[in-house]
Amino acid sequence: MTPEPKILFEHNRAWAARMEHERPGFFTRLMAQQRPRYMWIGCSDSRVSANEITGLEPGEVFVHRNIANVVVHSDLNALSTIQFAVEHLKVEHIMVVGHYGCAGVRAALQGTRIGLADNWLRHIRDLKLRHRKRIDHLPPEQQEDVLCEINVIEQVGNVALSTVLQDAWERGQKITVHGWVYGLRDGLLKDLHVSMDDAASVVDTFRAAIKQYPRSTDGGGASDADTTFDSLDDD
Ligand code: CO
Repeated sequence: MTPEPKILFEHNRAWAARMEHERPGFFTRLMAQQRPRYMWIGCSDSRVSANEITGLEPGEVFVHRNIANVVVHSDLNALSTIQFAVEHLKVEHIMVVGHYGCAGVRAALQGTRIGLADNWLRHIRDLKLRHRKRIDHLPPEQQEDVLCEINVIEQVGNVALSTVLQDAWERGQKITVHGWVYGLRDGLLKDLHVSMDDAASVVDTFRAAIKQYPRSTDGGGASDADTTFDSLDDD
């Protein structure tokens, strides 16, 4: 073993000993069952760790992460994780958490080729295209922040429209999907006010959240009535 990974084992032994010392029986209790109330869907970025940011301990948050926190309707990895969280763990809240300064969102915005992930990030390029009237007129640094936020809102919609959430709400399960964004600059989470807690409110909540970003041609915002959730185009 090279020295670097070796130090991680040293850290691990020290951490396990400290936990057991400070809270005797911690691991035994966790071993019996995990009962997290929260599921976190976030970016793989090493600076955005679900537990540390929220002060949650092992056993308290069920996590799915990928590049740029994308939830694709046919992604069996994400869907299986969400289904397990909803149907077996019975989490009460699912948070889709993006972050400013996301390299994946930036690559999608700028059209930078980075490799295989270009195909994954195509989902975000599609969002940039769909919402171009809300994005293209902004200064470059603001475009990136807005696309980070719009990506979160869209992924909240994708979670809410998944068969897993639709079925859960249909049988009366109490579960809310939230959209947040994390600031690398200040370490703070921001709520994007796109929380959805039943099937009936999904479209209206989505529309209201997207309308927070004015179009260049809005002329006061009166022309937003034609924004539909599932049209491919935001015109
Ligand atoms: Co990221």
